Amino acid sequence: MAAALKQAPPATLVIFGGSGDLAKRLLVPAIVNLCGDGLIGDGLDIIGIGSSEGDDESLRQGLDEFAPKGGDWRKLRQRVAYLQGDFTQAPVFAELKAKLGKAGNVVFYLATPAKFFGPIIDSLAKAGLMTEKKGAFRRVAVEKPFGHDLASARALNKQILAVVDESQVYRIDHFLGKETVQNIMVARFANPWLEAVWNNRYIDSVQITAAETVDVGTRGAFYDATGALRDMVPNHLFQLMAMVGMEPPNDLSADSIRGEKAKLLAAVRIPSADDAKKDGVRGQYADYRKTADVAAKSHTETYVALKLWIDSWRWAGVPFYLRTGKALKARDTEIVVTFKPVPLALFRDTPVADMPPNRLILQLQPNEGIDLDFMVKKPGPKMQAVPVALDFKYADAFKIGGRTGYETLIYDMMMGDQTLFQRADQIEAGWAAVQPFLDLWSKSKDKVETYKRGSDGPACAAELIERDGREWHQIA
Ligand code: BG6
Repeated sequence: MAAALKQAPPATLVIFGGSGDLAKRLLVPAIVNLCGDGLIGDGLDIIGIGSSEGDDESLRQGLDEFAPKGGDWRKLRQRVAYLQGDFTQAPVFAELKAKLGKAGNVVFYLATPAKFFGPIIDSLAKAGLMTEKKGAFRRVAVEKPFGHDLASARALNKQILAVVDESQVYRIDHFLGKETVQNIMVARFANPWLEAVWNNRYIDSVQITAAETVDVGTRGAFYDATGALRDMVPNHLFQLMAMVGMEPPNDLSADSIRGEKAKLLAAVRIPSADDAKKDGVRGQYADYRKTADVAAKSHTETYVALKLWIDSWRWAGVPFYLRTGKALKARDTEIVVTFKPVPLALFRDTPVADMPPNRLILQLQPNEGIDLDFMVKKPGPKMQAVPVALDFKYADAFKIGGRTGYETLIYDMMMGDQTLFQRADQIEAGWAAVQPFLDLWSKSKDKVETYKRGSDGPACAAELIERDGREWHQIA
C-alpha cells in the first residue's frame, strides 16, 4: 500500500461473532497489518460480540493465536473489548449502545451465520445505532452468503435498505480484496495493446476457474445446504467475470466502477430451463457423503461448471466457461482468455492442429502472475511456428505475502470507499443468472456425477466444453 494513503479516522469496529474464526484468522490480523502500515492509528477500538461466556481478556487471548506478533498487536490488544450477549434478543443492543457511549464513527461487522444479517441490522436501526449524526459515519459490513437464491437476496436487500441507506452497506466478497483480482482492472485499462483486442473480434472464449484441493472439512452442515454453485459462483466467480468483462469506467470512483460491473452482470443471459440443462453440470467428490453433518443421500454438488453468455456489444458470441470445485488435484484460481486463430494459415509447414491459440492467463492464486502464450519461429532453416510463454510472476517483481486480503477491505470501509463492495443490484443480477440452474437441480432426480478426490473433476465438465471443440486449461 502506498505511503501516501491517509490514515483512517478514529472509529469503533463492532464485530458480531467477535470470537469466531473469521475475526481471529482474518479480520484482526488484517487490522494489525494496517496498524503496521500506519493506515490505522490509536483511534481504533474493537468490540467483539459473542454468545459464549467471556470477558475482555479471554477474547484477547483467543485473538492472540493468529494476530501478527509485535508492538502493533500489543497496543491494539488493549483496545479490544468483549460484550457477551445473544444478538437475536434486544438487551444486547441496549448494552452495546451504552458501551458505545458517545462514539462517533462505527462500523458494525456481521461475521455471523447469514440468517442473522437482517435481524441484526433491524435491531441496530431500532436501537438508533445506524443513525449518522454530525458527520460521523455508521456503516455495516455484511459477509457472504448474501441470500441463498434470488428471492431471498431480494428480500434481504429490501429488509436492509428499509432501515439504512445503500451508502452505509458494505457487502463483502473477499475475492475483491485479493491483489491479483484488483490487478485485473490495471492489466486491462493501463495497457492499451490489451484493451484493443479485448472483444469478440479477437477473443474466442474465456475460462474462469477456482479449483481447490481442500474438501468441505468441518463445514458439512453449511455446505450441504449450500453447494458449490451458491458458495462460489454468483459471488466470487461473477466478480471475476465482471472485472474481465466490464466496460472502462469513466473514472475510478466507486459509483463508476460499480455501475460498470452491475451493467456487465445485468447482461449475463439468464438461461432458459432447456439451456440450464445443457449448459450446467455438477459433481460430487467420492466420499463427500461421509462428511459429518452431510446427508447420507446428499445431492449437493461440490463441483460445478457452467457455460454462460454475455449479451453485450463487446461479448456477443464469446462463451464464458466457469468452473469451481473442492477436493481437486490442485489449488488454482485463474482466468484464461483464448484468442481466435489467425485469419490465414501462412505457415503451412505447421499443421493447424499444432498451432495453439494465443492465450492470456491471469493466475490469481497461487503463484500469482500473468502468462501470455504466443507463437514464435522455431530456429532452423524451415519456417515453423511454435508456441512459447511470456511468464510474469508477481513474486519476482514485488515483495508479496503476509497479507490476509482483508486489509484493503477494512481500510476502504473505514475510509468510506465502496468500490470493492457489492451493490444491491450486482448481488441480485448474480443470483438471477444462476437461478435457473438452482431451480433445475432442486427438482432434478438425476444422480450427481461422482469424481475422484485429487482429480480434475467430473467427466461431464470435460464434455461441457469439448462438445464446443474446446478444452479446459489444465488445473495445475
Ligand atoms: C469462501 C467459500 O467464500 O471462499 C469457501 O465459502 C471457499 O468454500 C473460499 O473455500 C475460497 O476462498 P480463497 O480465498 O481460499 O480462494
